[in-house]
Amino acid sequence: MHLRYFGDSVLRTKCLDIECFDQSLTEFTESMIKVMREKDGVGLAAPQVGDNRRIVIVLPPGKSKPLIMINPVVTSKSESRVVYEEGCLSFPGMYEDVARPSEISVQYCDLSGQKFELNAEGMLARIILHELDHLDGKLFIDHLHWWTRFSLTTQLRMKLIFNRG
Ligand code: NI
Repeated sequence: MHLRYFGDSVLRTKCLDIECFDQSLTEFTESMIKVMREKDGVGLAAPQVGDNRRIVIVLPPGKSKPLIMINPVVTSKSESRVVYEEGCLSFPGMYEDVARPSEISVQYCDLSGQKFELNAEGMLARIILHELDHLDGKLFIDHLHWWTRFSLTTQLRMKLIFNRG
């Protein structure tokens, strides 16, 4: 399992719901947690490791135990939005201000398929929303002004071309 970076088409795929909650799913999420920890991330979505299933890992601020969310769905979000600097493991070293709802409710299943509902605010809400976007092929740069996005992606594409040598 390895991290996928901007430019990889898997990051633009729409992920599918999980119907089978088995041991292999548990093992898959354990590997995801390992990748997230190795890269010092606070969240990771399955497409970032090349998988198109609706799985996200979220590390709540101040906690050491990650939250595993299967088939997560946002059921409500606040009108009020907060702007804060955001990054993504698929865009190393890149940070930009992104506006997001300050409070959300999210429904998800755990590894046994049991349903939960969680109310989150602040940084936790932001991380969840960022990771859930990944499941629909949406990236944090998509929230930026078109000009900012254009200049960032142009820089990234140039870098990719030069790295290929
Ligand atoms: Ni991300």
